[in-house]
Amino acid sequence: MCMNIPRYYAMGFYDDVKAAAEQIAEAPEITIISHIDADGIACEAILSQAISRYGIPVRSVFVRQLEPLTMPQVPSDSSLKIFSDLGAGQQNLLLERDLTEKEVVIVDHHVSQPCEREYRQVNCLPYGYNRMSAAGVSYLVAKQMDPINTDLAKLAIIGNVGDMMAREKCGLVGPARDVIVEDGVKHRNVEVRKRDLNCYGTATRPVHLSLSYNDDPFIKGITNNPEGARQFLKRLGIRQQSENGRWYVWEEMSIEDKRTIISALAEQLIANGERTDRLLAETYGFPDEIPRTPLRNAQEYATVLNACGRWSKPQVGGAILRGDRGIAYRDAEHMLNNHRAIIRDLLQFIIDTGVKQLENLQYLHVGGRYPDTIVGIGAGMALSKLNSSIPILIMCEVPEDKNLTKVSMRTTERVVERGIDLQKALSDASSEYGGGGGGHKIAAGAYIPKTAEEEFVIRVNRILGEQFAAKSPDHC
Ligand code: C5P
Repeated sequence: MCMNIPRYYAMGFYDDVKAAAEQIAEAPEITIISHIDADGIACEAILSQAISRYGIPVRSVFVRQLEPLTMPQVPSDSSLKIFSDLGAGQQNLLLERDLTEKEVVIVDHHVSQPCEREYRQVNCLPYGYNRMSAAGVSYLVAKQMDPINTDLAKLAIIGNVGDMMAREKCGLVGPARDVIVEDGVKHRNVEVRKRDLNCYGTATRPVHLSLSYNDDPFIKGITNNPEGARQFLKRLGIRQQSENGRWYVWEEMSIEDKRTIISALAEQLIANGERTDRLLAETYGFPDEIPRTPLRNAQEYATVLNACGRWSKPQVGGAILRGDRGIAYRDAEHMLNNHRAIIRDLLQFIIDTGVKQLENLQYLHVGGRYPDTIVGIGAGMALSKLNSSIPILIMCEVPEDKNLTKVSMRTTERVVERGIDLQKALSDASSEYGGGGGGHKIAAGAYIPKTAEEEFVIRVNRILGEQFAAKSPDHC
C-alpha cells in the first residue's frame, strides 16, 4: 500500500481513501455494483482492475440506479460489496437489505443520505471537492492500493469529464486536476491542451459541424448553423477538406489555423456583446489512441461509454477501457451511431412538439417513445434551442414499471450561478411524493409515481422559484 500522504488532500478525505483501500485489500472476494453512465463504467474498470491486480476475485454488476427495483441485482453472498458512483444517496436501501458495515464500501461523489448504520464511505463531496466524479475517487483508492495503478488515471479523467466535472471551470480543478491529470501526463497516455477550443467533437466531426453544434458559448451565426459555420471558415481562408474531399477535424488543424479560428470566434462574440470567457478550455487528449476516433479525447470517449451504458451494454464500455479494440469497439461504434440517431430524433421530437412553459421551468412528457436512460441527454441538447434561461424537465414512462415516471432535468451554468440546484429540487420534490431523485445542480433525475406527474411539475416549479428568489439581488 502507498503510504505517502499527498499534500493536496483534505486530511479527512485522505483518511477515508486509505481506510477504503485497506478494507478492500483485506476482502477475500468482491462484488462491484456500479452505475451505467460513463463515470460509473470508468469507476468499475478502475476498481476491478486494481482489485484483480491485487489478486482478489472480483465480479461486477451494473445498475441503472440503486432503487428498490434494482436492489435484487445486488447478490446475497459473502463478498464485500463496493457501491461505486451510487450508494451514498441510497444507504437506507442497504440498511433495509440488512447489509452490515463490514460488507459495504461506498465510493461516490453524490450527496449522502443520513442513515443510522455507518457504512464505510469515501466521498469527495463532504470535503468540498465538488468537481471530482466517482471515477476520480475510485482512482485515488486504486492508487492507494498500489501506485502501479497510475496507468488508470486516463480512465478517471474520462469518468470526470463524462460527468461534466470540467464544464463549469472549462477544465478539471482540485485533486482531479492536480493529482489525476498529472498522473496521466506522467504516465504519457494523457496530453493536456491548455488553451484549446471549448467544443465537442474535435476528433471526429468536420470543424464546421463541431462549431455549429456547440452552444457553450452560443455564437450568433455559427451555433445551430452548419452552413454559417462553413462560410465563416471559408472567409478566414481555412482549408476545410483534403484533396479527396475528406473533412478535416479540429485536432488535425495546424496551430496557425486554430489560432486564426479562435481569434475570429472571439471577435464574433465581442461584436455580439457576448462574453468570451467560455471560448477556450483545457482539454484532455489521448495520444495512444488512433487519430480521428472518438477515443482520442476524454469528452468523446465518455460519449462512447455513455452510449454503451444507456443501451444496456456497460460491459462493452468496460472492455474498451481495458483495451479491447476488436469486437467490443465495433459493438460500441454501432451503439454510438444508434445512440446519436435516437438522440437526434428525440431532440427533433422535443422541438417539434414544443414544451409547456411555467414561470421557472419548461416541460414535456415524451411518453414511451424513448428509453428513460437517454431523455436527460436529449433534454440537455434541446435547451440551447429553447429558452435556456430556465431549466427543462422531461418526463417519460419506465418500461419495467408502468406505475413509475422518470423525470430528467437539465439547465446551464449561468442558471446554476443564479441559484438553481436541480439535485435539491428533484430530491426534495420526489421524496414528497414517495419517489427518489438526485444528481447534480446542473443535471438531475428522479423517479416518481405516475399519478403524481402534474402536481410534481408544479411543485418543482415552485421550488425553483424559491431558489431563484433566494439568490436574487432583492433578497435579503
Ligand atoms: O437520468 P439522467 O441522465 O437525467 O440523470 C442525471 C443525473 O441525475 C445523473 O447524475 C444521475 O445519476 C442522477 N439521478 C439520480 N437519481 C435518479 C435519477 C438520476 O441521482 N433517480
